[in-house]
Amino acid sequence: MTSAGIGQARSLVQGAQRIAVLTGAGISTDSGIPDFRGPKGLWTRDPDAEKYSSIDFYLSDPELRVRAWQFRLSNPVLVAQPNAGHRALVALEHSGKLQRLVTQNIDGLHLAAGTSPELLTEAHGNTREAVCTACTWRGPMSETLDRVRAGEADPACSECSGILKSATVFFGQSLDPACVQEAFDAAATCDLLVCLGSTLAVYPVAEMVPIALRRGTPVLIVNAERTEFDESALVLRGSLSELLPEIFSGLSES
Ligand code: APR
Ligand code: ZN
Repeated sequence: MTSAGIGQARSLVQGAQRIAVLTGAGISTDSGIPDFRGPKGLWTRDPDAEKYSSIDFYLSDPELRVRAWQFRLSNPVLVAQPNAGHRALVALEHSGKLQRLVTQNIDGLHLAAGTSPELLTEAHGNTREAVCTACTWRGPMSETLDRVRAGEADPACSECSGILKSATVFFGQSLDPACVQEAFDAAATCDLLVCLGSTLAVYPVAEMVPIALRRGTPVLIVNAERTEFDESALVLRGSLSELLPEIFSGLSES
């Protein structure tokens, strides 16, 4: 990592008033949650694993659902704690410069670190809740996991007997339009877009980058490996939990 890069990143942040941040799985790997496309990513290690996150396979294969519920019981998300990267974004919020934090992550670590819920858009949902795929029922994931621990291998909805899943967006499902609008509005009105720990390969959330670029808004990317938009951004290579405290430190509280 060049110190020039950090100096440039710090001056971009200090010069901005309305910063939109987009985070991906890379901000949570130092909390013990694997990413998807990095060297030890879930999809990198097992290309078939993506199936578990596809709504069609999930709804049609009871065996897959039983394995998915067993995975949820031992999901690293259940014990993960925020790291210095998540905390650096709370410091950015306390400086008054954070306009919106859009995350693709479902681990809840931004909320756990102290990011204000009203500034956070969980574009791909969360694992805190379970939802029914056939009616509007939703409830705490912990209660549904208790049913699995008590022996229900594939618990059905208590309201309509429909199939239950986590409140995350599966492949083949559309995102909540309100979340997409929040993300696009943030990209269109911010004066700096900061992309952290994402390959920026998955839409519609990745559209935030071209939306900002079309308005001439500077884009800062911090990521261990290359992303789809490196050519049009200031790019810092390195570990987020090391770099973010350096980039966001010393901001005056507003
Ligand atoms: N510091 C910096 N970068 C890191 C770190 C780290 N500690 N750990 C991982 N990375 C980088 C990886 O090199 C990778 O380029 O973070 C990036 C994570 O990219 P992806 O695994 O593609 O994750 P993400 O961009 O969030 O994926 C988007 O795809 O599978 C779907 O719904 C899922 O929300 C996810 C979406
Ligand atoms: Zn139901």
